[in-house]
Amino acid sequence: MKALVVGGSGLIGSKVCDILKKAGHDAIPASRRNGIDTVTGAGLAEGLKGVDVVVDVPNSPSFEERDVFEFFTKSSSNITREAKIAGVKSLVALSVVGIDRLPSNSYFRAKLAQEEIIKNSGLPFTIVRATQFLEFLDAIAYTSTHGDVVKASTAYLQPIAADDVAKFISEAALSEPRSQTIDVAGPEAFKTSDILRSYLQKKGDPRKVAEDPQATYFGSKLEANSLIPVGTQPKLGSITFEAWLGAALN
Ligand SMILES: NC(=O)c1ccc[n+]([C@@H]2O[C@H](COP(=O)([O-])OP(=O)(O)OC[C@H]3O[C@@H](n4cnc5c(N)ncnc54)[C@H](OP(=O)(O)O)[C@@H]3O)[C@@H](O)[C@H]2O)c1
Repeated sequence: MKALVVGGSGLIGSKVCDILKKAGHDAIPASRRNGIDTVTGAGLAEGLKGVDVVVDVPNSPSFEERDVFEFFTKSSSNITREAKIAGVKSLVALSVVGIDRLPSNSYFRAKLAQEEIIKNSGLPFTIVRATQFLEFLDAIAYTSTHGDVVKASTAYLQPIAADDVAKFISEAALSEPRSQTIDVAGPEAFKTSDILRSYLQKKGDPRKVAEDPQATYFGSKLEANSLIPVGTQPKLGSITFEAWLGAALN
């Protein structure tokens, strides 16, 4: 099987390339650094020649509202159009759990628009919606920091390790596409305030965590379950927070 992994130099894409190659497949990383820009479309037609599966896992270099919307809509429009022309049999894309429940979040609106483009493309697809990566805890803490205090929400997170996300994406790439959306999540749910406190303490970070039920998620007001799978049967990763942290701190 030949896969083109768009975003193949990124956190998830590089792990997907490793897993697919170890399983004996031809996994080609695609991104601007090797001449494929999915926003302009440059290099895509050439890169897709002979490809069976496209893995769509890049991320926007800018999180500004207009930039992120333009990134995900142009990128997935170009990928799906060129993939159809090239006769690609399956597209696997990575999205985020709960994006339809937080319309005030501009990143989530862009991911929802990306999902619609994929669903309407006519290509057989699998959309894997993941919860926040454990590797994203730093960014969540950073955006919630005021002076030396992290004002953390009491809403739940069920964070998943990037290694587990890459495993689920690779499984989807190696399976028949059923044009469906799958939720994946970590094995444990925590209050955001609890996991951030534990994370920062164990890292030796001096910031204190203050529970604040009004704290937002990148500007969006949260309900308790906004960011965790609800009403679906998610596939759960096997890497616990403790195990992930132990490996990350070593
Ligand atoms: N963070 C989370 O908690 C979370 C949760 C659920 C889902 N997700 C999703 O996970 C996906 C992957 O995130 P990640 O953290 O692995 O990303 P990342 O590490 O930031 O990597 C981004 C990748 O995108 C590539 N890229 C950027 N602009 C490009 C362009 N114009 N054309 C082609 N490639 C381009 C980059 O390579 P170059 O710089 O070489 O172009 C890089 O390979 C995202 O779609 C995100 O929405 C994230």
